[in-house]
Amino acid sequence: MEQTFVLIKPDGVQRGLMGEIISRLEKRGLKLVAAKFMRVSQELAETHYGAHKGKPFYNGLIKYITSAPVMAMIWEGPGAIALVRQTMGATNPAEADPGTIRHDLAIVTSRNLTHASDGPESAAAEIALWFSSDEVLSWDRSVEDWIT
Ligand code: TYD
Repeated sequence: MEQTFVLIKPDGVQRGLMGEIISRLEKRGLKLVAAKFMRVSQELAETHYGAHKGKPFYNGLIKYITSAPVMAMIWEGPGAIALVRQTMGATNPAEADPGTIRHDLAIVTSRNLTHASDGPESAAAEIALWFSSDEVLSWDRSVEDWIT
């Protein structure tokens, strides 16, 4: 089953939107298999956003991502990588489709609430960067028989 890495960035935490963002992914039908509320080190930020080094927004991006705690997660489901990107919406919230997280909850690119892997290779690399294998849970999200 496909897995993707998702980050609720510091603005999502500061604005009290963690529950809303997680709820949208849960309601879509995806399964949470790993999560940690954590502070991002300078080193982790620079590795995660290594592809953007040298771009005009890079320094601000690193400062932003290390400024307050984040919620790092792995979500699982059929086609999870594309499906989560679709639920997040375009990088620039002003261009995101109505109904997406970025459209509905954000207004500028530099504070766009979430990160999600953009393909199978980045998903694998980001999952390995942010989580160890013993932090990833295998469980059955069945709504029947869970209490008996
Ligand atoms: P990118 O990987 O292009 O977007 P996405 O998060 O949708 O995969 O960019 C990474 C982050 O960098 C983006 O979420 C916000 C920030 N950013 C800016 O602040 N300004 C910009 O012009 C761009 C392209 C990105």
